[in-house]
Amino acid sequence: MTGRKRAEGRAKELRGKILHHDRLYYVENNPAISDERYDELRRELETIELEYPDLVTPDSPTQRVGVPPRGELPTIDHLRPMLSLESVSDPGEAREFDLRMQKALESAGLEYTAEPKFDGLSIELVYTDGVLTRASTRGDGRRGEEITPNIRTIGAIPLRLGAKPPPGVAAVRGEAIMPLAEFQRLNRFMTERDRQPFANPRNAAAGALRQLDSRITAERPLTFFAYEIMFIDGYDEPATHAEELKTLADWGFRVDSHLLLCAGIEPAISFHSELEKNRDSLSFEIDGIVIKLNSKDDRGRLGARSRSPRWALALKFQSRREITTVEDIVVQVGRTGKLTPVALLKPVDVSGVTVSRATLHNAGEVAKKDIRVGDRVRIERAGDVIPAVIERLPEKDSRRPAPFAMPKTCPVCSSSIEEEGAYHFCTGGISCTAQLTRGIAHFASRGAFDIDGLGYKRIVMLVDRGIVQSLPDLFTLEKDRLLELEGFAETSADNLLEAIEASKRVSLGRFLFALGIRNVGEHVARVLARHYGALEAVRRAPEEELIGIHEVGPEVAGSVSGFFGDSRNSEMIDLLLELGIDVEETEPEAGPQPFAGITFVFTGTLERLNRDEAKRIVESLGGRTSSSISKKTGYLVASAGAGSKLDRARELGITILTEEEFEKLARF
Ligand code: IVH
Repeated sequence: MTGRKRAEGRAKELRGKILHHDRLYYVENNPAISDERYDELRRELETIELEYPDLVTPDSPTQRVGVPPRGELPTIDHLRPMLSLESVSDPGEAREFDLRMQKALESAGLEYTAEPKFDGLSIELVYTDGVLTRASTRGDGRRGEEITPNIRTIGAIPLRLGAKPPPGVAAVRGEAIMPLAEFQRLNRFMTERDRQPFANPRNAAAGALRQLDSRITAERPLTFFAYEIMFIDGYDEPATHAEELKTLADWGFRVDSHLLLCAGIEPAISFHSELEKNRDSLSFEIDGIVIKLNSKDDRGRLGARSRSPRWALALKFQSRREITTVEDIVVQVGRTGKLTPVALLKPVDVSGVTVSRATLHNAGEVAKKDIRVGDRVRIERAGDVIPAVIERLPEKDSRRPAPFAMPKTCPVCSSSIEEEGAYHFCTGGISCTAQLTRGIAHFASRGAFDIDGLGYKRIVMLVDRGIVQSLPDLFTLEKDRLLELEGFAETSADNLLEAIEASKRVSLGRFLFALGIRNVGEHVARVLARHYGALEAVRRAPEEELIGIHEVGPEVAGSVSGFFGDSRNSEMIDLLLELGIDVEETEPEAGPQPFAGITFVFTGTLERLNRDEAKRIVESLGGRTSSSISKKTGYLVASAGAGSKLDRARELGITILTEEEFEKLARF
């Protein structure tokens, strides 16, 4: 077999594996291998494709990373028109819709489906012989913008349909959305760089997808829910909507689980009110439900109007946007000392929640939107994310107060203020009671030390009275001092002290999270804990090493090494340990360790790997490498130009491998 042929076969195999793991990770949320192993598969495929560029296929997972910018987004015709939906917000109108359907179909007992109406961007995906060949935005419904490279970056979209044999041509429709957590992260990223944050996840998703440079899209994690096969050729068409969704799931698409089959319209209306109640607990935004006739035959008999099908109806939720007045702009000091301007609003109900404060992010944002006291503003609440001021409405009154200005000193402790990028920070550290109070609240919170009974109000009291002046002070609290405070009696004081005592045994991940290191949330804290296994190892980790960890970028690495490098923090941690905090060491992350206890020696000029890579592979599988042969050597990997070591290994009867054989062994 030629090298090329072998590479072709292996590339195919790797693609299959990676696409399978992509599906487990992005669609089923159930990964089966470690990130390291996944990265290895990808790296191997990339190496092959680099060597044989003509082997790159459009469905290769390497095509998900984004490609260099294009001049503009071309417009293309959709395979079938992408219609819109008739939209109502009153359940009564859904009942009228049902009556219309019953009359037109001359049938009393119709079956509907009800599903979430995703608040994102509608996308058409075209698959030719099972391979994703074209993707476009809805545009005017007939023509949309071609965004194939951008769409390829979305892990939840299969690059090849899992249908055997696949349809000749299929057009799939669904919604590209940005999960709320990603939306918050992206907005933080944007404001930190003095760029305009997005008003809601929908705009953020649109911004990500309409990039000319798909490498930028790749950095902004989107997901995709499929809900319609718009066109299909050479494949049995599903007879109902429910079956269609099942087919889409079988093909490898993410299909939302909130699907309800409804006998008549009433179950759909109950579904609407249930989902509206639970709307904030979802990890993405939905703005209503979509009710559809389940039977495709019935749909065909009803047909469509010019812009929307007759057989479907969107029943919307209450709007998340409201208009109100800014009564004041105050500056809040966060746990890290960050100063955030906050608009105090005339209280207004936004889909069931009274909103009286909205973040203005930073001084630059206030200036850009030109928000001043007395202005009328539009606010928006996405999920349970802190509401934001989107825009100012034009004023009738031209006499407005002076623009907002950041204070020159910390509004809480009067320390000086430092500017860092788009933000202002109080330099007071824990001598600033705002930072201390929030720092302790964070330390005691659920994901950290989880101290029962130490709520925000009690922390404020403890800090205000000077009883707690630092984190370690929590562990030297005395009952007598607690009893001086309002709301404490014998039992409640005992309970709190007990809860504090019980919290002393803590996992490394929780401990790292509790410290409140900038950029280290619960997830990153766990990543660090798993990687290092022991507190001392994290404390000593050099910045360059941290950067190399998967999911730890330069910003996180900088904050972590900066935090532990600061002697005040070091002293505080030492004190916590002296006070009996017991940080449970976690096992460092390890994949399978088939090379455990085996020593490898490499000799000659390696053709496919370099020495460092070879060493890394051996170590990641639990083995060791050495430069000299001895009786303890497990394997000698010999390449071209091998000399005396090869002879010595033969003498000692040590197994000799070619580079290729070594790779096979390492792959398992
Ligand atoms: S069905 C012809 N199902 O809502 C019917 N649309 O306001 C095609 N949308 O443009 C649409 N979730 O982008 C359908 N589960 C869902 C949906 C959904 C969101 C969007 C779609 C449409 C818009 C209409």
